[in-house]
Amino acid sequence: AEQRSSLKARIKQLLKEKQAVLVSHYYVDADLQDLAEETGGCVSDSLEMARFGRDHSAKTLIVAGVRFMGETAKILSPEKRILMPDLDATCSLDLGCPADEFTAFCDAHPDRTVVVYANTSAAVKARADWMVTSSIGLDIVAHLHAQGKKILWAPDKHLGSYIQKKTGADMLLWQGSCLVHDEFKGVELELLKAQYPEAKILVHPESPANVVALADVVGSTTQIIDAAVNLPADTFIVATDNGILHKMRAAAPGKRFIEAPTAGNSATCKSCAHCPWMAMNGLQNLVDLLENMDNSSANEIHVDPAIGQKAVTSITRMLDFAA
Ligand code: 13P
Ligand code: SF4
Repeated sequence: AEQRSSLKARIKQLLKEKQAVLVSHYYVDADLQDLAEETGGCVSDSLEMARFGRDHSAKTLIVAGVRFMGETAKILSPEKRILMPDLDATCSLDLGCPADEFTAFCDAHPDRTVVVYANTSAAVKARADWMVTSSIGLDIVAHLHAQGKKILWAPDKHLGSYIQKKTGADMLLWQGSCLVHDEFKGVELELLKAQYPEAKILVHPESPANVVALADVVGSTTQIIDAAVNLPADTFIVATDNGILHKMRAAAPGKRFIEAPTAGNSATCKSCAHCPWMAMNGLQNLVDLLENMDNSSANEIHVDPAIGQKAVTSITRMLDFAA
C-alpha cells in the first residue's frame, strides 16, 4: 500500500510537470481510475473518453484502456501526442475483425450502411459509415432504420443482435464477441437471481442474449453505473468486467454489488469477468511511461494519416449525433 501511494504521488507530479492528462476506462486498475479523476483527467465509458480527449486542450493525452481507445483519441486529434502504458493492450473484438476480411464483407454488401463498434482498428473505422459505442449504438441504428437503411454491423454479434431485436432493423452481423462478456451464463444468473429476488440486474450488451434477457438495465459502463446510483434497490447483480465495481461502490455507497456468474469460478477461469488487456495498465508502467516520454516514442499511438482522415468521419458522425 505504501509503494502504491508513493507511485501515485509520483504520477501526479509527473502529469503536472509534463502537462499531460490521464484518461482512464472503468475497467482499468482502481488506482488509475482515481488518478484520472483526481488530476483533472476523466474516467468514463468509450464515448465520453473520445469526447473528453477531443475537447481537452492538453497536447499530451495518456490513455489507460485498450488500443482502440488510444487510436480513437489520435484520429480525433492528430496534432496531440497520445501515449498508452502498454501498446499491446488490444481487444478480442478488434482481433476478431481484421481489416482485409472486413473490407471484403462490406464490398459484398454494397447496399448496406456500415456501422461499426468502437472496439475496432482504425482501418475498420475508415471503411465504416458510422462508428458507435455501446451507449449510443441503439439510438443510431434506430435512426438509420427509420430512414429505411439496411445495416451491416461489426464486430460484436451480441450487441448487434440486441440492437436488432430492439429496433427491428435489417442487420447483417459480423460474428465477433468479447472474451470477457461472452462468459456470462444465463442459467446460473437465473439461479443467483432466485437467491436475491430483490436484486436488480445490470448488464453490458456485449453479454449473450440469455443474460441480456434477464437484465433490468442494459447499457454502457457509464449507463449501468448511473443505474446503480438511481434505481431504488439495495442489491445489484452486475454482468460486466469487475473493474467497474470500484466506481459503482464509490458512486453508490451502502449498496451491495454481486458479480454475475461466469463459466468457471475465478480460480479456473482467469479471463472471466476481467479483461486481460485492460489489466495491462498499471501504476508501474504508467510511471515508466511518464519518466521516459521526453526521450522515447515507444508508447506512442500512431495512426496512418490517410486512414485517420477516413476514420474521423465515422467517429465524428457519432459525436455530432450525441451532441
Ligand atoms: P463502454 O463503452 O461501455 O465503456 O465499453 C467498452 C468496452 O470495451 C466494453 O467491454
Ligand atoms: Fe474488448 Fe471485451 Fe476487453 Fe472490452 S472487455 S476491451 S470488449 S476484450
